Amino acid sequence: MVISGKELSARLKAEMAEQVKTFPAKYGRVPHLVVILVGDNPASVSYVTGKAKASEAVGIRNTTIRKPESITEAELLDIITALNLDDEVDGILVQLPLPKHIDENKVIEAIDKSKDVDGFHPLNVAALWQKQPCTLPCTPKGIIQMLKAAGVEIAGKRAVVIGRSNIVGLPVSKLLLDENATVTIAHSRTRNLGEVTRQAEILVVAIGRPKFVTADMVADGAVVIDVGVNRDPETGKLCGDVDFAAIEPKASVITPVPGGVGPMTICCLMENTIECFLKRRR
Ligand code: GUN
Repeated sequence: MVISGKELSARLKAEMAEQVKTFPAKYGRVPHLVVILVGDNPASVSYVTGKAKASEAVGIRNTTIRKPESITEAELLDIITALNLDDEVDGILVQLPLPKHIDENKVIEAIDKSKDVDGFHPLNVAALWQKQPCTLPCTPKGIIQMLKAAGVEIAGKRAVVIGRSNIVGLPVSKLLLDENATVTIAHSRTRNLGEVTRQAEILVVAIGRPKFVTADMVADGAVVIDVGVNRDPETGKLCGDVDFAAIEPKASVITPVPGGVGPMTICCLMENTIECFLKRRR
């Protein structure tokens, strides 16, 4: 079975749109998400455009602030401070990666925790690892939603995550653990990676290398979640971290690229924006 993140996210966004329609009468306005884009990295531009489109579909107010690559760290921090103080702003997202002269951690820490729709602030990360209420990072949250929507039983399963980034690998490992999977985190230094991945009943791949996972690395009947967004060096088309054509016949469930994890990430960003809006009103 191929899980369509595109279809699932369309359904969820339609539900959110109905919910947001009730907000002006209840709260006087709709949620407001501010996205900051520094520079013009084509992938980042495309992600930010996707976020603006999804906001429009859900009825969330979206402001995209575009700044040149040459912006200083101090200028960026000033913008964030102003947004933190602005009561009409519910969510702040700084698109990553940032130029090398800007300290990403400093920027993430500057965002008010209550407006951190990415769930990247150290206080949100700490809350996640302590199983306290928090804003969940969008991609890991979307992955768990997809698994559940596909009827995949997670509890007791052997899950292998390839990748240990703060954005995906580490938090999705924690969420799988919270769902009672037995989790292994593999990475670029893992020895005999194929031996490890063949043990996986659920395999989540987030390494950012086109078609890195080949059919021989996947067990028959495995559930395969592909987080990669790459250009196929041969065709120039979008492709994931797994060789979809070769693995799809073996897998019991698999996500496509495009149309898999990507749309669910954006969908969860919309959910997080609504959550932050509602929490700030309580
Ligand atoms: N760059 C790649 N993925 C993400 C994400 O989920 N959030 C932000 N802010 N930047 C990203």
